[in-house]
Amino acid sequence: MAVTPDHPGMTLPRAELGVLPTPLHAAPQLAEALGVRGRLLLKRDDLSGFAVAGNKTRPLEMLIAGAWASGARVLVTGGTPGSNFCQAAAAAAAWAGLRCVLVYAGSPSPVRHPNEAAAIHWGARIRWTHDPDRASVDAAIEKTAAELTEEGQTAFPVPRGGATPLGATGFHLAALELDAQLDGPATVVVGTGSGGTLAGLVSGAVALGRRLRMRGASVSRPPEETARRVLELSRGCARLMGTEPPREADVVLDDARGPGHGRPSEEGERAARLALRASGVVLDPVYSAKALGALARILGDRRADPDLTTVFWHTGGLLDAVAGWESR
Ligand SMILES: Cc1ncc(COP(=O)(O)O)c(C=O)c1O
Repeated sequence: MAVTPDHPGMTLPRAELGVLPTPLHAAPQLAEALGVRGRLLLKRDDLSGFAVAGNKTRPLEMLIAGAWASGARVLVTGGTPGSNFCQAAAAAAAWAGLRCVLVYAGSPSPVRHPNEAAAIHWGARIRWTHDPDRASVDAAIEKTAAELTEEGQTAFPVPRGGATPLGATGFHLAALELDAQLDGPATVVVGTGSGGTLAGLVSGAVALGRRLRMRGASVSRPPEETARRVLELSRGCARLMGTEPPREADVVLDDARGPGHGRPSEEGERAARLALRASGVVLDPVYSAKALGALARILGDRRADPDLTTVFWHTGGLLDAVAGWESR
């Protein structure tokens, strides 16, 4: 266990899951293929070095340390069977010597998503809400954690996506990590679902004096709704870090939902094909492909300043890349 690097007010413990910093790669051929002027860089959190956890390695470093500190024996979280976070949490709990209970929305299906199969393989116990609504998981996580704690198995509940102020601090630190790898300002584009990733990045960017501009590509909710969640989370994160609270204008979201959450978009499919051909990078249809597609749409106009640096935050999602492309 490490204590996070020197930072105003920062004494939060961190479980060392990842191999950090993750690489930052130049992608000139991909910039050309997408029509993005200026420098395009890839922040490779798909190579975060823990299991197949991608970006979720970072919040889990903080959440696992939080679970240890609370004396918990069981990590309880949830989502859909396709959730990358649930799969990553199951791996992190196994690594940390904690039991893991996952609450999935809906009912078991005869064909398991690779993320569900991996989570079970790594020892997670599954409970089902028998309600297809993703939000049905939220109350069920709390209820399950309370039941387990009452039975004497102290539980640490974690909301969907690990989207809490504590989880977001992992991405506040990631913004500092990226800044140390850059030689000037940049615009950063990242896929956004539950909002914890963007919230931490925004909190970090504000702490850095706003020389990094964060843009989320909202893949699951209308951008306005996601922005509200992200602002609240980022303020909670900044409070934990002892840094300046983000303002409304610090949270920028673009619509990248396409035909809906979990359903591939044409824009994303094109971006994913180009990313593989030009940079050898695999993108998943749910998050990273839609985020790169949005980046090309927003920043790929030929009027963009050629001196700008754009960073695409590759968040991983490898098992979704295996499972998801045929579902359109
Ligand atoms: C591959 C991938 N990218 C991006 C995200 C979005 O992160 P967040 O839920 O923190 O917004 C997720 C969330 O599950 C993810 O699995």
